[in-house]
Amino acid sequence: WLMSALGLGIAYLLGSTPTGFLAGKFLKGIDIREHGSNSTGATNVLRTLGLRPFAAVLAIDALKGAAAIVFIRWLSQALLVWPATKPAAWVEPSSFVAWAVCLAGLAVLLGHARSIWLNFTGGKSVAAGVGVLAAMSWTVALGALTVFGVTLALFRIMSVSSMLAALTAVALVCGLDEPLPYRVLVIAGAAFVIVRHRANIKRLLAGTEPRLGRTSQPGV
Ligand code: G3P
Repeated sequence: WLMSALGLGIAYLLGSTPTGFLAGKFLKGIDIREHGSNSTGATNVLRTLGLRPFAAVLAIDALKGAAAIVFIRWLSQALLVWPATKPAAWVEPSSFVAWAVCLAGLAVLLGHARSIWLNFTGGKSVAAGVGVLAAMSWTVALGALTVFGVTLALFRIMSVSSMLAALTAVALVCGLDEPLPYRVLVIAGAAFVIVRHRANIKRLLAGTEPRLGRTSQPGV
């Protein structure tokens, strides 16, 4: 259990890596949390720093999510076979690994949104979530990304696409025959992502949420 907790701590720290914040500091000498939507996520990097930093931050944040899942899968499988850490016989190996994936997925999302290095501020965990989904189930990730792409082409509003993609992932993970821990991960993760978008939801209702390609209003 100690080793599992250590694995979850590592997943949280991976998520905490403040990619967008570092991009703002190194490329423009700014604290990105004082610009645009105040988020350290890739969308605010696009708004504040431009296309190339956006692509880099998006890729690294997605990799953080995927790396956490790959790492915890490896660790939990190793814990099942190491004599010193072998869990009790009643622990079913595949569900031990799947629950470890579930908790590590949530830990990496939490780390991204509440980074230990940024006074527990951060992003909205969308890119990290894509990485988690891709490492968890390619079919779910592909479905969510398709909805993301289509709604972005239609409305050009990142927050709308992100939230609809999160809901699509929930529908797919429940509709397809995915294990219970994966369902818990996707449902809790999607709820977390949507709660992180509450300022966007207020702006959407007020009709002030910026579309891609438009200059952002201050504080958005
Ligand atoms: O991926 C985050 C996006 O959905 C919203 O970002 O900066 O517009 O709040 P932002």
